[in-house]
Amino acid sequence: MTHADAATPTPTGDEGLMEKIVNLCKRRGFVFPSAEIYGGFRSTYDYGPLGVNMLRNVKNAWWRSMVQLRDDVVGLDAAILSPPAVWEASGHLKNFSDPLVDCLKCHSRWRADKIDGVCPNCGSTEFTESRAFNLMFKTHAGPLENEGAVAYLRPETAQGMFVNFMNVLQTTRKKPPFGIAQVGKSFRNEITPQNFVFRTREFEQMEMEYFVPPAEADQWFEYWLAERFSWYLDLGIPREKIRLRHHEKDELSHYSTATADVEFLFPWGWDELEGIANRTDYDLRAHSEASGERLEYFDQASGERYFPFVIEPAAGATRTMMAFLLAAYDEDQVGGEARTVLHLDWRIAPTQVAVLPLSKKETLEPSAREVLGMLQPHFFCDYDVTQSIGRRYRRQDEVGTPWCVTVDFDSLEDRAVTVRDRDTTEQVRVPIDGLVSELRRRSGQAG
Ligand code: GAP
Repeated sequence: MTHADAATPTPTGDEGLMEKIVNLCKRRGFVFPSAEIYGGFRSTYDYGPLGVNMLRNVKNAWWRSMVQLRDDVVGLDAAILSPPAVWEASGHLKNFSDPLVDCLKCHSRWRADKIDGVCPNCGSTEFTESRAFNLMFKTHAGPLENEGAVAYLRPETAQGMFVNFMNVLQTTRKKPPFGIAQVGKSFRNEITPQNFVFRTREFEQMEMEYFVPPAEADQWFEYWLAERFSWYLDLGIPREKIRLRHHEKDELSHYSTATADVEFLFPWGWDELEGIANRTDYDLRAHSEASGERLEYFDQASGERYFPFVIEPAAGATRTMMAFLLAAYDEDQVGGEARTVLHLDWRIAPTQVAVLPLSKKETLEPSAREVLGMLQPHFFCDYDVTQSIGRRYRRQDEVGTPWCVTVDFDSLEDRAVTVRDRDTTEQVRVPIDGLVSELRRRSGQAG
């Protein structure tokens, strides 16, 4: 783990990479600009057939590591719409803002802390006074658009865990240290959404609030830094493209006493993937005071009643998916031909196995469909009969499919198929009856 200074962007020397990823995402159906037939809609994006699988795989990998494989973390799926009282108590109505300035020359609007005093549009250095711009989306619930009907789209999933703290405590009988995890959409009216899906106004978060006895907060903070850092490495982010950066005091959010970001080396420099914060007892205390409900933990053994401290690993699912794509992108040569390949870990690849009948001839179809049917319960599969086999391999390489299974005329005689590995391009013959176990073995699962 590194302890780096506040980021001055370090360009990676591959500025063209962003453009390649954005093009690939559009061309192959990962991410489309939203409402494109009407000219698009301000940095919003739709996830296509491959993108939706990959995003789901990223969220599932997170859920597996944070909830399924642990006995101290439970899940939650809270409402996106919430009343002002929640955001009043949490401090977001007062504090969740960015400094907004207008350029006096071209009248464009910017986040003052992101532009170094120079207008990125016209180069002017003259701006209005900076003013606080609240990032929450405000709407009205019901037919009346009056003050009493105001509701907010959540800007973080975290508050759902705090307002349900007692419900979860009482229904699960958990005791600190324990966590509540949630994956879902959040909304922020960002002044300058940018860098494709890196900063958008609608995005998905993967957050966990880990409630601990106050005296143990520092130790759990360190624990979650290490856990979360290794999650990215395990799923294939190269060690030299990821680091931890501890926040300076003046960078901390209004609720935090310590925060460290997991940062990725994006084409424009180091930037945040996830924040791990010590939120202290700020939120539970604030909601207790505002609601009149006692959101404390009562320890029956010691007779002690206290507000747990909270350690929060908060990651962005959409942003993380983009980092996985950037890290996996490669161009190499196979058999003297250039190819584009995504070296994605099989767990997050949008298609995990492609079944490719060698020829369009109908005689191959029953066997190929039998193979597909065997694989589908275990893997996201694609079935492709178009084009030459070489072209089809290239198409699968380009979207990161780890294994292609080719059914040919010999398969009808020997009941075996050819398995091709994306990274080595090595091909081996495997009996159809042993195919699922072979691929489960290769993917590191039991046979
Ligand atoms: N509950 C704490 C919290 O929300 P945050 O650092 O503001 O902390 C957590 O957000 C993560 O959510 C970020 O590290 C980032 O990955 C993601 N995120 C935040 N704003 C985003 C945006 N506008 N677009 C995409 N992802 C965003």
